[in-house]
Amino acid sequence: MLTAHGLYKSYGTQEVLRGISLSLADGEFLSVMGESGSGKSTLLAVLAGNTVPDRGQVFLDGEEITAMKEKELARLRRTKLGFVYQELNLISTLSGEDNILLPIIFSHGDLTAARRTLRTLAEKLEISHLLDRLPAEMSGGERQRTAIARAMIHAPSVLMLDEPTGSLDSRNTEEVISLLLRLQAEDGVSILRVTHSRLAAERGDRVIVVRDGLVQTEAL
Ligand SMILES: Nc1ncnc2c1ncn2[C@@H]1O[C@H](COP(=O)(O)OP(=O)(O)OP(=O)(O)O)[C@@H](O)[C@H]1O
Ligand SMILES: [Mg+2]
Repeated sequence: MLTAHGLYKSYGTQEVLRGISLSLADGEFLSVMGESGSGKSTLLAVLAGNTVPDRGQVFLDGEEITAMKEKELARLRRTKLGFVYQELNLISTLSGEDNILLPIIFSHGDLTAARRTLRTLAEKLEISHLLDRLPAEMSGGERQRTAIARAMIHAPSVLMLDEPTGSLDSRNTEEVISLLLRLQAEDGVSILRVTHSRLAAERGDRVIVVRDGLVQTEAL
């Protein structure tokens, strides 16, 4: 359902993506690994339509993301795509609940329905007790789960996550991976996740490694 063909992206003279092609099937959980600076975040940004590639195409359900104008991209973000940034990007002055509802508020969506979805999601992600807290009053793992809830609030068909480097311990990594597997199984969402943990990566369906601007496919 999500396919990319021959993606190229350079910053100045630095070639970050050098012809990457990949596909993510419906309901699949794909893990992306690679050294720091290898281009994982750049790849996710291009796949989500947040960054324009120099060359190449990205399709989601037959629609070409790389050809979309900002208005269509905005529609995609409030319907089919959920994104969790490496820096999470939670608003520090808003509670967990308001952070999660923000995409619905911005897009003038149905807040009553969203609040119902929020209850279910918060339970699944084990953050029900944190909804009144500010991000600064949460642990790193709790903030990450709050950001996942925000990305899932509109029930996207694809969830993209850029895992923060280092900071989280193995217990939290294990917890997050279990929650994601549950979302995959129960909500049928396809997941594309950058991870630095080989163990976490192997819990998904497939692992790819980004190296020298290309994808090295690994069979599990
Ligand atoms: N906006 C930008 N302008 C210039 N260079 C950039 C920009 N974004 C990324 N880069 C460079 O592109 C390369 C790939 O960056 P990217 O963030 O995709 O790596 P990454 O694999 O996500 O690394 P990490 O694991 O540390 O998050 C890096 O060398 C980075 O410095
Ligand atoms: Mg990154």
